[in-house]
Amino acid sequence: MSEPRFVSPEASTSEQSIEESLRPRRLVEYIGQDRVKESLTIAIRAARERNEPLDHLLFYGPPGLGKTTLAGIIAAEMGVNFRITSGPAIERPGDLVSILTNLRPGDVLFIDEIHRLNRLVEEVLYPAMEDFAVDLVIGKGPAARSVRLSLPRFTLVGATTRLALLTSPLRDRFGATYRLDFYDLPALCAIVQRAARILQVPITQEGAEEIARRGRGTPRIAIRLLKRVRDYAQVMGDGCIDADLARTALDRMAIDAYGLDDIDRLILRTLVQKFDGGPVGIQTLAAATSEEADTIETVYEPYLLQLGFLQRTPRGRVATRRAYEHLGVPYPADRAVVQGTLEGFVEVPVNDG
Ligand SMILES: Nc1ncnc2c1ncn2[C@@H]1O[C@H](COP(=O)(O)OP(=O)(O)O)[C@@H](O)[C@H]1O
Ligand SMILES: [Mg+2]
Repeated sequence: MSEPRFVSPEASTSEQSIEESLRPRRLVEYIGQDRVKESLTIAIRAARERNEPLDHLLFYGPPGLGKTTLAGIIAAEMGVNFRITSGPAIERPGDLVSILTNLRPGDVLFIDEIHRLNRLVEEVLYPAMEDFAVDLVIGKGPAARSVRLSLPRFTLVGATTRLALLTSPLRDRFGATYRLDFYDLPALCAIVQRAARILQVPITQEGAEEIARRGRGTPRIAIRLLKRVRDYAQVMGDGCIDADLARTALDRMAIDAYGLDDIDRLILRTLVQKFDGGPVGIQTLAAATSEEADTIETVYEPYLLQLGFLQRTPRGRVATRRAYEHLGVPYPADRAVVQGTLEGFVEVPVNDG
């Protein structure tokens, strides 16, 4: 039986309801991302004082870092309705028009995976965002005429894992764009402690740290690990999570000390063993690992980059000395030279921002 994949972007339905109960509702409950929080706090306060809706906002970053959560918090802090949809869910322009015309003044409309809106739908969004209006075409052929329908002032919050795939007219219509970063250890540890409290699982500080350390800087993953360790504690221990128990449980799940799982290691090993450490193109790497290029780019690669195991260069992905060391493969002497020149490169985005 294969282990579930901890870094998969979507949670299962049963996990989703637990995720809901763990979602912070207010800004003060939202741990970490201090820079973003501070800026939002000011913007929200200013908008409230002026009695105006907030500017349209865009959040980007890898899955599981808290984009959807933040969007919900914004609606709560503004005291308005929160309407959720997603790029792929809006198939036709008419679908979006109906969502927009049903908004109430001040509402937050959240569009997840906004880079996946199709072009016709996106064109409806431009005047909606800019002028709070939609243009409807009534009638057909020569008799067709366009009617402008005004909308209540609302706030669009967009989220994306792939900023580079957003068209520039869409990007330009957001008043502010925020990047969410991976969480540092203390923040992730606090998130694990908070989740344990809500789930009513006894956990020691060291136990929480052990889980946080392997959580890839990502709340969703850390929380998922916590839930698996909780199961283990219940069946194999006395229900309490301490450092030893967490370590044993996580080792059994094949999550290593950096939080890497089988797929991460497969990607690194493929790069090192099949392609002599690279550079290799993302499509080639995807084919060799039987993973989708998009999944590698959005789910796996950002954290490997963050750890310094992988580099993006103009010629493709390269495994670093640290990756070799982590895999226990000797670093070839002749690569040091290549590495030296590669390190001289400014990191160049290959497809993505
Ligand atoms: N800053 C945070 N503090 C506490 N919990 C968080 C935080 N950010 C995310 N979470 C938790 O992680 C889970 C994933 O967050 P989510 O907003 O769905 O991520 P994204 O939309 O970026 O994929 C949520 O269920 C929430 O409980
Ligand atoms: Mg989300």
